Formats: sequence, C-alpha cells, structure tokens
Amino acid sequence: MKEIRIRRSVRSFCDREVDDATVADLLRAGMAAPSAVNQQPWEFMVIRDEGDRNYIAGMGPISGSAAAAPVDILMLSRTYDLQLPELVYLDMSMCAQNIMLEAVHLGLGSVFLTVVPYPERIDYIARRFSLPSTVSPFGVIALGYPSWDRLNHETDRFHEDRIHWGTY
Ligand SMILES: Cc1cc2nc3c(=O)[nH]c(=O)nc-3n(C[C@H](O)[C@H](O)[C@H](O)COP(=O)(O)O)c2cc1C
Repeated sequence: MKEIRIRRSVRSFCDREVDDATVADLLRAGMAAPSAVNQQPWEFMVIRDEGDRNYIAGMGPISGSAAAAPVDILMLSRTYDLQLPELVYLDMSMCAQNIMLEAVHLGLGSVFLTVVPYPERIDYIARRFSLPSTVSPFGVIALGYPSWDRLNHETDRFHEDRIHWGTY
C-alpha cells in the first residue's frame, strides 16, 4: 500500500490549516482500529491553541513538533471498564498507526510524540488539560500539511535477514 511505503515522520509544516472535517476523518480511521475484545479504549482531544501546543512541546527534548504543527491530537486511553487493561497500549498503538496512515492518504504529515510509559509525562499532560481520572494521556500525534521540503517519501527498510522462514 502506497501510504505505508511513503509515510515518514513529518516535523515541519506549511501554513495551511487542517479543518475539523479532515481531523474527524483521521479520527474515524483511528476508531476503526482493531482492539483487544473490541474494547476501543480511545478518546481524543484536538488541540489547536498555540499556548497548549507550546506546552506540549515542553514535555521532553524531542517534543518540539507539537508546537510546529497546527494541530495536535492528544490520544487518551480509558482507565475504567476495560476487560483487558494490560493490552491497552497495543490497542492505542494500532489506533495511532491508522491515524497516521490516513493522514498520509489525505496529503498530511504527522509525527508521534511519546507520552507513555513515562509517569512524569503523563502527569505533565494531565495537569494542563485537567483530565478526569477516567482517561490517561497515551501519546500525541502532531500533524499538518508538510513543508514542501519535508514531504512523505519512500524509504525501503526491507531486510531479508530479519525473516526466518519456518526455523530460526
Ligand atoms: C513509539 C514511538 C515513539 C516516538 N516518539 C517520538 C517523539 O517523542 N518525538 C519525535 O520527534 N518522534 C518520535 N517518534 C518518531 C520516530 O522517531 C520515527 O518514527 C523513526 O525515527 C522512523 O522514522 P519515520 O517515522 O520517518 O519512518 C516516535 C515513534 C514511535 C513509533
């Protein structure tokens, strides 16, 4: 699939805004992801405010893309009513990948910014956005239309020696 092959982490964006309908398309793709026993643990905050984006950028040494991007999607995971809580990070990762591939499909670029599993980052984000205890920050997807010199592009990472056909 083209989108899988050309997706790159994009950290530099042009001025073009991303409208709400486009963000909703991305989140529809995210919510289509598989999850353990279909528990769908995800919720999302769509963050456009410059002060909030700058705050997220201060989360860690490589979080600056949160400020550079016009939109940050803060991915939240539900903390209650989970049949398999130990699988929530896997569920959320699948959701994140769906969002990022849909972004490529729509001409956008994105980068995933780490929050979990670091408690200090989880607290940092939860404090700013006054999150209830029913959700916990999982990660941030910073996104926008890429700068002309930072477009998605193909990189071949296929390594035959990583594959073990039937025996190791
Ligand atoms: C779990 C995970 C955490 C990541 N955290 C960050 C991050 O905090 N900041 C950042 O700029 N990129 C982050 N990235 C992006 C990686 O650096 C990037 O995917 C990797 O260098 C490969 O480049 P590519 O995405 O362009 O293929 C993260 C990616 C993953 C999958």
